Amino acid sequence: MAFPTHRMRRLRRNSTLRSLVRETTLDVDDFIMPLFVCEGSRIRREIAAMPGNFRLSPDLAAEECREIRDLGIPAVILFGIPEKKDATGSSAVDPNGVIQQAIRKIKVVAPDLLIITDVCLCEYTSHGHCGILRGQEVDNDRTLEVLTAMSVSHAEAGADLLAPSDMMDGRIGAIRRGLDDAGFSHLAIMAYAAKYASGFYGPFRDAADSAPSFGDRSSYQMDPPNAREALREIELDLSEGADIVMVKPALAYLDVICRVRERFDAPIAAYNVSGEFSMVKAAAQSGWIDEKRVALEILISIKRAGADIILTYFAKDAARWLS
Ligand code: PBG
Repeated sequence: MAFPTHRMRRLRRNSTLRSLVRETTLDVDDFIMPLFVCEGSRIRREIAAMPGNFRLSPDLAAEECREIRDLGIPAVILFGIPEKKDATGSSAVDPNGVIQQAIRKIKVVAPDLLIITDVCLCEYTSHGHCGILRGQEVDNDRTLEVLTAMSVSHAEAGADLLAPSDMMDGRIGAIRRGLDDAGFSHLAIMAYAAKYASGFYGPFRDAADSAPSFGDRSSYQMDPPNAREALREIELDLSEGADIVMVKPALAYLDVICRVRERFDAPIAAYNVSGEFSMVKAAAQSGWIDEKRVALEILISIKRAGADIILTYFAKDAARWLS
């Protein structure tokens, strides 16, 4: 029954037909916008490798959030850039820490915007690793205590959803228990479940000043060649109480998103990370690609692979392009 009976071009004849048979759609409801929050007031410093993205003090982060909400974007994820860093990342649990302040300010101006907080120590430690060190190693179980305290502190400040990105073993269970014990059993956890040790985080680490001062993250983040291991990570995080599971980065791991979709029914988030964003921006600035077209093609590919939610620095642009 091949040609001439079947002509695939029949359904591609015009844009109305194409939209009738379209399998995947992008919607502003799919997006989470990442924001970098630094200490101080009236601060808005552009991140060199991420045009259109800024380090914002809590007051201006709140203004930015009002604009984000007005665009119809449902959620932001906040990353803190504290003034003081130390070996144990103690500013992460400070009730007046940069994130805690930002949450309270954002809630005033955009009460129905979902505030997700990134829970990880690398932005708060002087050595830039995602946990507490013992010698040159990250001490998994000691780190769990701090991550749990950090999560409770964010919840107390008014966070709607906690997103642990540290890749310690057992952290979802520990944080879940900590939140429940502190009276926050209603708050969901979005686990960075399959997070790879990726070169695509480069611009983020410059923005957050969080590159490790020695070694790298490959003893806790996943090895890029592994996909079956991602399924085990996801299964563990779900069994410990994760409500949403994330694959990160997105573009070089579309196969992983697809396999997770086939195996699990939980909502899947994918993080279109800083390096993926910067590549598109740089090529577009050189006039080598059409930014809007390529960015939307990337975002739809992440949806098509099976993600329900996309964390992306394109969220504001995409919201405008789609409206
Ligand atoms: C914190 C964290 C990182 C990112 C999100 N949370 C950096 C890292 O693991 O080094 C990267 C996000 C991006 O590149 O856009 N651990």
